[in-house]
Amino acid sequence: MGLQLGDVTPDFTAGTTHGELSFHEWLGNSWGVLFSHPADFTPVCTTELGEVARLKDEFTKRNTKVIGLSVDPVEKHLEWEKDIEETQGSAVNFPMIGDPERKVADLFGMIHPNASNTFTVRSVFIIDPAKKLRLTITYPASTGRNFQEILRVLDSLQLVDRYSVSTPVNWREGEDVIIATSVTDEDAKAKFPKGFKTLKPYLRLTPQPNK
Ligand code: BEZ
Repeated sequence: MGLQLGDVTPDFTAGTTHGELSFHEWLGNSWGVLFSHPADFTPVCTTELGEVARLKDEFTKRNTKVIGLSVDPVEKHLEWEKDIEETQGSAVNFPMIGDPERKVADLFGMIHPNASNTFTVRSVFIIDPAKKLRLTITYPASTGRNFQEILRVLDSLQLVDRYSVSTPVNWREGEDVIIATSVTDEDAKAKFPKGFKTLKPYLRLTPQPNK
């Protein structure tokens, strides 16, 4: 059985484009997004890394560190970064792990042998400050990821960790949220002073509490 939501993520040391790091120490008290891509000098990955670089401030605002990985060596990542800056207009501003021995890829199950024996798939892992795994998504090599969705999930996770709520379909920061069914109506009146709408006893909506 591979890594599952709620598991403490494996710790490791690895060479990266920002030097050697120890993963849990590097995360510190931050949230983390670890994402793998199939290979360096490939077109879809080039666009993805440019986008993550452009979104760096958005991740920082959410107390989140991002780190990339492929099974190519660090020296190749550094060569490729020049192309990313040239073609995407943004310099890569986060570390990329070089994993030629597939040490980290194996720990996180990033090689799916029936897709490819050689390449890591496009995996995304969100890790919370307790180092627990909170989200995994796996995309096929041919589909570039939507990193706005990763930011959206971070917003949701950080909100539900503070309040007894969950977030509905397509929710975005600032929209109404769902009151947990474990909260009685009586308690909800105190906890959610902006009020709430009851569509069904199990479906109560309230304005986002911290807005
Ligand atoms: C790409 O990034 O474009 C890519 C990488 C591996 C397989 C297919 C596409």
